[in-house]
Amino acid sequence: MPRKIVIDTDPGVDDAMAIIYALSCPELEVVALTTVFGNHNVDVCTSNALQILEVAGRSDIPVAKGAARPLAMDYLGAVEFIHGEDGQGNVHLPAPSTTAVSTPAARYIVDLVMANPGEITLVPIGPLTNIALALMMEPRLAANLVAIVIMGGNGFVCGNVSPAAEANIHNDPEAADIVFGADCPIVMLGLDVTTKTNMTSAHLARYGASANPPAQYLAKVIPFYSDFHFATSGMDGIHVHDSSTITYLVQPDLYTAVSHPIRVDCGHGIGRGNTIVSERVPAANSPWAGRRDVTICVTVNAEAAIDLELNRVCD
Ligand code: RIB
Ligand code: CA
Repeated sequence: MPRKIVIDTDPGVDDAMAIIYALSCPELEVVALTTVFGNHNVDVCTSNALQILEVAGRSDIPVAKGAARPLAMDYLGAVEFIHGEDGQGNVHLPAPSTTAVSTPAARYIVDLVMANPGEITLVPIGPLTNIALALMMEPRLAANLVAIVIMGGNGFVCGNVSPAAEANIHNDPEAADIVFGADCPIVMLGLDVTTKTNMTSAHLARYGASANPPAQYLAKVIPFYSDFHFATSGMDGIHVHDSSTITYLVQPDLYTAVSHPIRVDCGHGIGRGNTIVSERVPAANSPWAGRRDVTICVTVNAEAAIDLELNRVCD
């Protein structure tokens, strides 16, 4: 039986890669996409999610629109310099021919999980606002989930929006702190592994060489994103952020992990958004006390991870 997943997403070039990859994996059943602000505003992200499903020929999958802003601060704004004016590498697809369901994302997640207890894995690849709202809406939610497999955070490496913080967590630290405190298995695919998983221009050429329409779509979308990587770090290619969750779900043995509780820095200083790992057993009065260990991925067999993704999407 394929594993049922809900991808919570802010598409985003690398979100498009992850969604298309997930749809190419027989081990996974994408039962819904839920959208959130992040790489662009939530209206654009929702339209992009619908368009990506259309490109993949999977408009049967429901899309629920979610939060337009973080829990306790203003939305920091679209990162058009990374993902393009349209959040999809400036390909400017026509408007989608389908629409989102009328139920808001957090409610949609709660209803779906409670109707399918013990079956759903949440895969957030954007800010964690919808997931935090769902956990607050239904206290029994965590107990009814299989797991939450997150792209976000930086356990033992530098951040990407600041030296302290990774973008998805930085976009809503208060939500992230709630989610990392959920009483269910949580896996973190953070910058510790995603910045070690680098598709070079030679790898990326496989999208364009593929006859599969979704791969062809990615061949058009990714160049803007790879230009950003080159302009900011001289890198040939891209870091594989959001897709790392899908690789983990399909082949977890490509990763090694450590297990510790996490708190998120919700202060308004330079550390805001940092995912702080307690490597020691927390004392009873510690802010980390009572939290479940998070499975924090720390190493990856990057070449095998990239092969798996490209083989699934391109072959
Ligand atoms: O830090 C990487 C994450 O932030 C990804 O989810 C990407 O889509 C981005 O904006
Ligand atoms: Ca994302």
